Amino acid sequence: MNPLVPSSPAPPTPESPAGPPVGIVGTGYVGLVTGLALAELGHPVICLDVDRAKVAALRAGQAPFHEPGVDALLARHRDHLRFTTDPAEVFGPCPVVFVTVDTPPGPSGDADLSRVEAVVAAIPTGAELVMAMKSTVPAGTGRRITRHLRATGRHGVRYVSNPEFLREGSAVPDVLHPERVVLGADDAVAADAVAALWAPLGAPVVRCDVASAEMVKLAANAFLATKISFVNEIANVCDAVGADVATVARGMGLDSRIGAAFLNPGIGYGGSCFPKDVAALKQLAGNSGYHFQLLSAVIEVNELQKRRIVVHLADRLGQLQGARIALLGLAFKPGTDDLREASSLVLAARLAAEGATLVVHDPVVGDHALGLLPPGTAKVARAADALAGADAAIVVTEWPEYLDLVRPEVAASMARPLLVDGRNLIDPEAAASAGFEWVGVGRPDCFPAQIDLEAPAAVPVAGS
Ligand code: UDX
Repeated sequence: MNPLVPSSPAPPTPESPAGPPVGIVGTGYVGLVTGLALAELGHPVICLDVDRAKVAALRAGQAPFHEPGVDALLARHRDHLRFTTDPAEVFGPCPVVFVTVDTPPGPSGDADLSRVEAVVAAIPTGAELVMAMKSTVPAGTGRRITRHLRATGRHGVRYVSNPEFLREGSAVPDVLHPERVVLGADDAVAADAVAALWAPLGAPVVRCDVASAEMVKLAANAFLATKISFVNEIANVCDAVGADVATVARGMGLDSRIGAAFLNPGIGYGGSCFPKDVAALKQLAGNSGYHFQLLSAVIEVNELQKRRIVVHLADRLGQLQGARIALLGLAFKPGTDDLREASSLVLAARLAAEGATLVVHDPVVGDHALGLLPPGTAKVARAADALAGADAAIVVTEWPEYLDLVRPEVAASMARPLLVDGRNLIDPEAAASAGFEWVGVGRPDCFPAQIDLEAPAAVPVAGS
């Protein structure tokens, strides 16, 4: 029998957890949701974090971030989840410990592994456990950590790479219904221990070596980011040639080799993963002597996409100096209060630099956001209040509640009813009938007045 695979006479249930506790180090999105999912699968869970305030809040049942389903699971599994700042509570009782600390980009663009290294340093000599790495790390990290563990006499620690693919905003269902479980290990016993924990989810398992598992995560995120930058460039060409990217994306996406997902153009991707992981993969390739040209373009397109809208707006308004601009949405995407690498921050800084006055709204992001926005920015609690008196409004985050703004009285409350839809959220015709001048990304503009299709087009004729 494999001593590392938790066994129990009866299958564990959320009400009656069984087996040894599972350890989680780092209670960010990945760590907390992984811990909650394991509790949901019937395991007692012990979560370790260095942040005392966060641990105190979690003990009181308060999640440190907005994520649908997390509060309910925290309440449901209160009795089977322990939160601690003491490494001894995890490195001892837990045969499997998931490492879920953050790996932000360092000054060189490489992933900063200092938090991972701190976790490795905290594992005592004599520990017998499987270290399951969920943090996104450069390929080669697992091999280096294993070597370091052996060199420091910690022969009882077995390493497994088990990357996480959850998305913020749908983290709970993503973890409970994964499309695949990737397990990279040089040690089948260790891989079995982690596989046994996720087996009840019934997902296909990709078993491989550690470096390949590490690469799966980086490659998947880089590919998705590439898809977004690609469709953003297609949208920009659609703008130039008068095509509609919504139709183009639909026509492309119905080809099963392409797929419809991640073909929504907008004002660029953000968040804690794509910008960091694309940069980290590019850097990893560069450090290994390979110039990953495509990713340089993906990053550049994404940066330009955030700024492009400012030029559009300046063209429409004549000038931005003194203009009052409403930003609808601050979070990097709906369903989260996360501002990491959010397009809203770049947009706000650029607009303020051009002399615009900003009024912002977000349904979940708190007032702490004002610390990241240009001085003088006003934040309002009702979206309609952001639009009142504004010279233009920009949909930055596609929160569904912004669809309720498409009403004649809201358009009438604006100094100029210019609605720049940075996420192609709103139906252009509905916006135009409510009295808005609607501008999307890669879509024909829509004006309140009927466009005269009979009027002769001002297209220069070759040779004339
Ligand atoms: C992503 C990956 O999807 C997930 O698998 C990984 O574990 C972490 O990184 P997340 O950052 O939570 O998840 O959000 P995601 O839904 O993937 O969106 C990322 C960014 O891309 C957002 O800014 C979103 O607005 C943008 N995006 C997404 C687009 O601009 N267009 C699209 O079609 C899809």
